[in-house]
Amino acid sequence: MAAFPISPHFTPLLLSHLLLFHLLHAHPPLISALNITALLSPFPDLSDFNNLLTTSSVSSDLSLRSSLTLLAVPNRFLRSSDLLHHPSTTTSIADVLRFHVLLQYLSWSDLIHVPPNGKLVTTLFQTTGRATADLGSVNITRNPSDSTVSVRSTNSSSTSTTVLSLVKTLPYNVSIFTVNSFLVPSDFDLMASENQPSVGFNITKILIDGHNFNVAASMLTASGVAKEFEDDEGGAGITFFVPTDMAFADLPTMERLQSLPADKKAVILRFHVLHSYYPLGSLESILNPVQPTLATEGIGAGRYTLNITRFNGSVAIDTGIVQASITQTVFDQNPVSIFAVSRVLLPREIFGNKAMGSTGSGSGMLGASPPEVFLSPQDSPSLDSPPARLSSPPGFREDIRSNAAIIELHKAVALLCIVFNYLVW
Ligand SMILES: *[C@@H]1O[C@H](CO)[C@@H](O)[C@H](O)[C@H]1NC(C)=O
Ligand SMILES: *[C@@H]1O[C@H](CO)[C@@H](O)[C@H](O)[C@H]1NC(C)=O
Ligand SMILES: *[C@@H]1O[C@H](CO)[C@@H](O)[C@H](O)[C@H]1NC(C)=O
Ligand SMILES: *[C@@H]1O[C@H](CO)[C@@H](O)[C@H](O)[C@H]1NC(C)=O
Ligand SMILES: *[C@@H]1O[C@H](CO)[C@@H](O)[C@H](O)[C@H]1NC(C)=O
Ligand SMILES: *[C@@H]1O[C@H](CO)[C@@H](O)[C@H](O)[C@H]1NC(C)=O
Ligand SMILES: *[C@@H]1O[C@H](CO)[C@@H](O)[C@H](O)[C@H]1NC(C)=O
Repeated sequence: MAAFPISPHFTPLLLSHLLLFHLLHAHPPLISALNITALLSPFPDLSDFNNLLTTSSVSSDLSLRSSLTLLAVPNRFLRSSDLLHHPSTTTSIADVLRFHVLLQYLSWSDLIHVPPNGKLVTTLFQTTGRATADLGSVNITRNPSDSTVSVRSTNSSSTSTTVLSLVKTLPYNVSIFTVNSFLVPSDFDLMASENQPSVGFNITKILIDGHNFNVAASMLTASGVAKEFEDDEGGAGITFFVPTDMAFADLPTMERLQSLPADKKAVILRFHVLHSYYPLGSLESILNPVQPTLATEGIGAGRYTLNITRFNGSVAIDTGIVQASITQTVFDQNPVSIFAVSRVLLPREIFGNKAMGSTGSGSGMLGASPPEVFLSPQDSPSLDSPPARLSSPPGFREDIRSNAAIIELHKAVALLCIVFNYLVW
């Protein structure tokens, strides 16, 4: 039983059952939680802010996250803020605090190097589903004349807050800056947020709300793949790399892409999805750079893989013929993360190895495939070890919030396995 014959001819059916088996029998992840209360406690000037995080329970929202930037309001500014004197509900305060949690690790150097047209960063508030459109993101800008860094809601007519100093940094995981005022999301009704239910997971809506992803949204809808990515109970444990409209506009092979038959288009869309939830921090520290995609699962091990590496302060994604980078977190709520990417990820299995216009059939490309395969022999003999695709940095599994989330993930994976078996057979 221990020695399991693995070959490149391993059938997708067996593969998905094996994967399912592994997932269902995986040991609970080791949790090394982020304790934001403890991180803030050495700073007496942040005691009120720290208390608010605790009483609103936003601190526990953060305990299983990595890769974030906290904008903390020191006591002297907090006590003079009218926010706390407003007869608002606890949920409203919690949402305002969530707006101060940026879902990306930013160093001081990242802040002073923000491009002239600003840098958009998603906040924890965006993930509640209570933010209108993309107003749960903040725009970080730097004034070139006096070098001050400001953060405001994406609605440019909204008020802004100024970054004062860096108080704490744990590289690539957490940084804490002080700011001189609370930042209230624009269009935010302090009285209203409590009773608004959070919306279900609707990938098309998220993309349309993001404004910059209209081509991807319409391709997803037209191909019917959107439904495949969604799950009625909040999503199927996926990481989706969505090309911006600009990425599609820049595509030399756009006509070729558009003239592909529907099933090939669907394969290309699946090629943009990893079948696991990875927040940005986990992608940045990924140990096994060659990751299978949903397209791999329909076709076979070692093909349709993405090579993901940390590069130049961002995450680079290499398909073998296209190099893209992550430009923005569009959505991040376990078990679904969506990142904007700068280029359309063209699989070399369809678009060939050299000129993008060449008609690669795929079979000729196998020699050029990365050595990494879906289940490599050294990883697979024991049924107790997780499959190679799940080898991940220690931090990755910490992002799976609770056993309940894991069970949801298992159910979703089981569903997907069934769907793919169905497609293959
Ligand atoms: C976080 O740290 C604080 C103070 O150091 C402590 O009181 C609290 O119990 C810790 N929380 C968790 C969940 O460990
Ligand atoms: C961010 O702010 C800059 C400077 O005010 C502005 O040029 C840019 O359009 C803003 N970006 C967004 C998405 O609002
Ligand atoms: C931007 O903010 C202004 C003033 O708060 C508001 O009137 C306007 O509707 C907002 N725009 C959007 C797109 O929410
Ligand atoms: C998802 O959102 C889009 C755009 O708002 C909408 O057209 C579609 O009906 C929604 N789908 C579901 C299942 O709610
Ligand atoms: C690295 O990032 C900076 C700013 O984000 C950019 O200006 C530069 O061109 C990038 N370098 C490379 C080699 O991509
Ligand atoms: C993945 O990309 C990195 C950086 O571009 C490169 O060094 C590495 O060789 C690539 N690995 C594979 C298997 O393609
Ligand atoms: C950052 O997180 C990773 C995994 O999440 C952990 O291994 C590492 O020790 C953390 N680094 C710091 C400085 O806390």
